[in-house]
Parts: sequence; structure tokens; C-alpha cells
Amino acid sequence: MAEVVFVDSEAAAGTLAAASIRSLILQKPDAVLGLATGSTPLSVYAALAASLKADPIDVSRVRGFALDEYVGLPADHPESYRSVITRDAVVPLGLNPSKILVPGGDPATIRTAGLDYEALIVAAGGVDVQILGIGRTGHVGFNEPGSSFASLTRIKTLTEKTRADNARFFPSIDDVPIHCMTQGLGTILRARHLILLAFGDEKADAIAAAVEGPVTSSKPGSVIQLHPHVTVIVDEAAASKLQNLDYYRYAWANKPWPGI
Ligand code: GLP
Repeated sequence: MAEVVFVDSEAAAGTLAAASIRSLILQKPDAVLGLATGSTPLSVYAALAASLKADPIDVSRVRGFALDEYVGLPADHPESYRSVITRDAVVPLGLNPSKILVPGGDPATIRTAGLDYEALIVAAGGVDVQILGIGRTGHVGFNEPGSSFASLTRIKTLTEKTRADNARFFPSIDDVPIHCMTQGLGTILRARHLILLAFGDEKADAIAAAVEGPVTSSKPGSVIQLHPHVTVIVDEAAASKLQNLDYYRYAWANKPWPGI
């Protein structure tokens, strides 16, 4: 089962996850990070950036793969995930931009972009740690309900709910692309460690379904139950619909080693 860790702030979640990633990079200077977009991972990038500033380590060999990308936005569009990852993670962390890859969102290459991206992940030796948020539909990456647990990087059609959620980044919902390229649930399962973060009561249903619900493609986040090494970091609001809270707290309080 997933390790579920409770925090009282997004900053505390960021500190925990950042410490784990820093330790990974120290052990493996060319570590492969799985980078997520959205509001949720920002605290992780901020905490890691602060840690690297206070006590620098070499990150020049760190590699990264973004989870997903919109189809049809130019790469230099401010809301393309290429731009978002560059702004939120690559620049603040001082990563080498040439080592950070994003799925291709060019409509001309969408039939082959998924397989090409999968080949690059395999050639890199796989993702060491995958940072994940979760959408209100229960999606991870852009794997909307119904996505196969065996799916690999491919084009997906976004739900209207996801487009409405993401409309806050665009002039209107009509400007939110209908299609995306996303790592599949099968791709995510291949990463060696998953760190899923969620904050706020609007994520409570998705977290309960992911951690304790039936394993079903109708709730894509439930894919984490098939993975051997998952850390779920949640605030009290996002955790409010979990049943086994006492056990998670007990396990965390009695963990034989510090950190995640
Ligand atoms: C988007 C991303 C997901 C992200 C989700 C939640 O749809 N593709 O990777 O997890 O939104 O976003 P937020 O963290 O802003 O709530």
C-alpha cells in the first residue's frame, strides 16, 4: 500500500519531497526525474530550489521527463507544458534544459510522438522518481477516467471538466486545447518511486479513490495501488475522506528511518 504522509502545509510537503529528491541526486547525479505541472508540485520545486541555493549540489547531469503536454500549442506559448516546466522547475532548479524532455505536442507528429517519447524514457534507464498531482476527475498526468493501466505515452482527449479546471490559465475555456499527449498509466507504473501530492478538499474524493478505492480505470489515480513504492503526501483537507487515517499516522510515526 501507499505510504500516506500528512502535512499541515504545502510548504511542509515540498520540504519532504525535496529532501527525498536531493538525496536521490546525491546518490545518482544523473538521476531521472518525472516532472509534473499544475499548482500542486510548485512547493516541491520551490523547496528544492531553496535547498540547492542554501547548500548547492551538482545538478548539471540531472535528467527529466515531463508527464504531459497540450497538443496544438506552440512550444513557446506561455501555457505549453514545455514553458511551464521551464518556468516552474528547470530555471529555479538550475537544471540543464537540454536534459529535460517534454512529450511532443505538434499535431503533425502526434501519431509517433508517444512511441518516440517512450523510447527516450527507456534509453534513459527509466524514471527514478515521478512527482504527481491529481485532477478532480481523478486523472494523473492527463490520463482521464477510462485510461488503460497498460497505456503508454499517447494522445488523449481531455474531459470538459479538466478543460474547465485548466481554463484559469487561458483567456477562456475555448482556448484550452481539447487534446494532449500524456505519459500513460503504464508509463507511470514503470517509474521506481511515485510521490503523489494533493492539497485541499476539492482533491479529497480523488485521493480516497486513489489510495483506498477499487482499482479501476474509472479512477485513474487508483493505479498507484499497483505500484510497489508510492508516497502520498496530503494535507488534512485532501485526506479527509480516507478511512484508515489512524493506521497511516501510526505507520509514519513508527517509520524505521526518517523521511520518505
Ligand atoms: C493538470 C495536469 C496534471 C495535474 C492536474 C492537477 O491537468 N495535467 O498533471 O495533476 O492538472 O492540477 P493542480 O495541481 O493545479 O490541481
